[in-house]
Amino acid sequence: MRLVTSPAEIKEITKTYRLGGLTVGLVPTMGWFHDGHLSLMRMAREKADKLIVSLFVNPIQFGPNEDLDSYPYDLERDRRLAKGEGVDILFAPERQAMYPEDFGSTVSVAELTAHLCGRTRPGHFDGVTTVVAKLFNLTLPHFAVFGEKDFQQLAVIRKMVRDLDFPVEIVGHPIVREKSGLAMSSRNTYLKESEMDAALSLSRGIQKARKFVSERSAEVIHAAQVRNLVHKVISPHRECEIDYINVVNNTTLEDCDEITENSLLVLAVKINNRIRLIDNSILKGS
Ligand code: PAJ
Repeated sequence: MRLVTSPAEIKEITKTYRLGGLTVGLVPTMGWFHDGHLSLMRMAREKADKLIVSLFVNPIQFGPNEDLDSYPYDLERDRRLAKGEGVDILFAPERQAMYPEDFGSTVSVAELTAHLCGRTRPGHFDGVTTVVAKLFNLTLPHFAVFGEKDFQQLAVIRKMVRDLDFPVEIVGHPIVREKSGLAMSSRNTYLKESEMDAALSLSRGIQKARKFVSERSAEVIHAAQVRNLVHKVISPHRECEIDYINVVNNTTLEDCDEITENSLLVLAVKINNRIRLIDNSILKGS
């Protein structure tokens, strides 16, 4: 596995891959790999002749009071893990190389970014789409894999690719969870033992909601019933500040009134005002 830090060098390498007729896959990440990231790499490895993983803690997607400075980072550890998954290139550029002083462009997707995480994290998705557009141009992938854990990010990137005709196939990967049910996240490393029960209330809420829906398959179920049920599971934990509990259409992300096969339960909760956790699940079916 090669470690590449220079954008100019990665451009040269991917140009050669393309000219050689090789299929290039990209997995964009901010590092501190866990099994969620590694599963994305495994999925991409199956489809790609050459697999590139990017590792870049993208400063422009963090708000002023967010965790950019404390975001976990260990290049040697991640390098070892990526090598173990058969990654061909780990692309880990410096901030200055991605955003030189005169950098002044933004890729922005309207509407889809206005609610849910976009409401509490203004500018976040512009930071994501800008860096992902840059990564696509630098690595020229045929396909890129993103996790369904960040359901809104995935929808926004699909929209950007459609709107701007990026010649990249976007592949979604299901959420990878700890045995406890907790959705894996680099940010879980901030959780103290005493906060674990509160953190687990998200996946418990999801399980209860899915059970509630499956037991009433012949009835009309309203989103409000599901929201109330999940609220009752999460809100007793005083560590939890609920950002949103919503039921949305899994493509448009618009609010649903009644539960259908396309209804996605989406949650964002802040634990002790420090750790923002998100989770989601389809309510009907697997
Ligand atoms: P990061 O949080 O490092 O996540 C990288 C990829 O891993 C994303 O596609 C994310 O959805 C996926 N992922 C994270 N946890 C997962 C889990 N438990 N199960 C499945 N997939 C999971 O998302 C980002 O980085 C950044 O916003 C990025 C797209 C790299 C742009 O900077």
